[in-house]
Amino acid sequence: MELNLAGKTALVAASSQGLGFAIAERLVREGANVMISGRDEEKLKNKIRELEEISQGRAAFYIADVTKAEDIQKLVSKTAERFGGIQLLVNNAGGPPAGSFEELTDKEWVHAFELNLLSYVRIIREALPYLKQQGGKIVNIASSSIKEPISGLILSNTFRTGIVGLSKTLASELAPYNILINTIAPGRIATDRVKHLDQIRADQQGIDIETVEANNKAGIPLKRYGTPEEFANVAAFLLSDANSYMTGSSFLVDGGMIKAI
Ligand SMILES: NC(=O)c1ccc[n+]([C@@H]2O[C@H](COP(=O)([O-])OP(=O)(O)OC[C@H]3O[C@@H](n4cnc5c(N)ncnc54)[C@H](OP(=O)(O)O)[C@@H]3O)[C@@H](O)[C@H]2O)c1
Repeated sequence: MELNLAGKTALVAASSQGLGFAIAERLVREGANVMISGRDEEKLKNKIRELEEISQGRAAFYIADVTKAEDIQKLVSKTAERFGGIQLLVNNAGGPPAGSFEELTDKEWVHAFELNLLSYVRIIREALPYLKQQGGKIVNIASSSIKEPISGLILSNTFRTGIVGLSKTLASELAPYNILINTIAPGRIATDRVKHLDQIRADQQGIDIETVEANNKAGIPLKRYGTPEEFANVAAFLLSDANSYMTGSSFLVDGGMIKAI
């Protein structure tokens, strides 16, 4: 199967670690030009260094907070300027805070909206003129909460489903430009974010994090957390020329965790 990612330019939002970085690395390995981003300059510089051997100068970084419209505008224009266009876009952001309905304030709701939904809208809007030039691919990172709400994560449960509505609608609106858009929903992929959430659960239940992890793994048919590389494989396929007929869909990468049909 030919992915044909070499020579294409990808913008991967929120990609200084975790799932975003794993996708960026995979795309660099496939020969794409890749812009990574995040809020922490040191972290980004280290990641570019880490990629140096395989990227041969095809990876760059730009500091951008995806909750800020002006940062997004600059991130997109700098990417296009640096590499001469954008054909591939990966939407991502940090996860919203944990909390139940009665714990969360308006401020936290508005911030989660800006972080986990509005940022996707804004990045797509800014990138569209470039994606339209030759057609392109968009992949949104969401969560298994799009299929089954996760207890204690009402902000994720609410705004990730918005990504699915956005994506499904855009699949029709962008098809005339040969732009395909899909959403990937991680279950439990071993990243810092998942460790952080497991630690919160451990503290709440007064047990150690290893016990939380073991309990979680017991509920996953494949009996383990996924790796960021396994997640990135799915993104690479959806972004590639090998995906020519899938758009507006959502895909779980969860080792079988979600039982909904
Ligand atoms: N891992 C999983 O299994 C899983 C499951 C369900 C959902 N998710 C969701 O998938 C997304 C990625 O997950 P992950 O596990 O890779 O998370 P992660 O390890 O926490 O990485 C998040 C990345 O986003 C960046 N980021 C955070 N806030 C940002 C902002 N305002 N502007 C720009 N960049 C920002 C972080 O860098 P800086 O902090 O340096 O900016 C970091 O590079 C998250 O939204 C997470 O909630 C993940």
